[in-house]
Amino acid sequence: MRRRKKQGRFLAFSLFALMASARPLAADDSAETIAPRIGSGNPVAGKGISESERCQECHGEDGNSDDGRIPRHAGQYAGYLIKQLRDFQSGARYHSVMSIIVEDLSEAGMADIAAYFASRKPKPGSPAGDDPAAKALFANGDKARAIDACVSCHGEDGRGRIADSVTYPVIGGQHKAYLSGQLVNWKLGERANSPGGVMNRIAKALTDEEIEALAKYISGL
Ligand code: HEC
Ligand code: HEC
Repeated sequence: MRRRKKQGRFLAFSLFALMASARPLAADDSAETIAPRIGSGNPVAGKGISESERCQECHGEDGNSDDGRIPRHAGQYAGYLIKQLRDFQSGARYHSVMSIIVEDLSEAGMADIAAYFASRKPKPGSPAGDDPAAKALFANGDKARAIDACVSCHGEDGRGRIADSVTYPVIGGQHKAYLSGQLVNWKLGERANSPGGVMNRIAKALTDEEIEALAKYISGL
């Protein structure tokens, strides 16, 4: 208990130091609001590690990558980022570059890097897509094809959430090319690391056109 309290205080201090060094944050990005997102890692240490491990070269200094195929991590839940790094390490998820990069990362290093990216402010996404069919799929799913509404797990505007110890990643504002790429990977079974295979089941029920339209819509949220 005592130790936890100490860690909490250290975290609050670290966040304060980090935020003081960054540009001004919006009011809802206070330490209280972002604390559940960053988990137990140390974002200040994570800044240095992600720089020396060269994560920032691809994912952007503040986790807002410019390349549409490279996911943005700014504001992503640390718990989700850590799970992906572990999955790349164990082989549960494969990517030609990432699977090699994670080989030597320690658990503590992963938690710190994830805390750093989670604490960063996401850049606004691309202009909002207005495709009514994609919007309806996101909000309501399609019962006839057993497609659950994206919003039911990924939350309002795809902002992600933690529920029953599962972390549902932020998808709103993510790059369109990355989103459609992952949905295609799930549809083809090339990515198969979601709990109970839920994303494989959902993506298999989507047409290629729906995947493109959803990716465009979600990247604009
Ligand atoms: C050479 C470029 C490159 C470097 C360097 C790099 N990444 Fe990546 N990263 C990628 C690409 C590309 C993907 C998308 C993989 C895919 O399509 O499945 C990715 C995916 C990820 C994901 C999954 C994100 C998600 O939303 O599911 C995490 C987490 C991640 N990288 C963390 C890191 C960390 C931590 C480092 C440093 C130790 C790092 N990356 C270094 C290119 C890079
Ligand atoms: C029943 C819950 C559930 C529903 C409904 C759901 N998802 Fe997911 N989704 C998840 C979980 C859990 C993950 C994280 C998987 C992992 O740990 O690798 C995920 C991951 C993703 C990712 C990968 C994000 C990244 O950064 O790599 C995308 C894209 C995605 N979902 C899109 C969708 C879309 C589009 C819909 C609606 C058509 C949808 N999801 C509906 C649970 C859900």
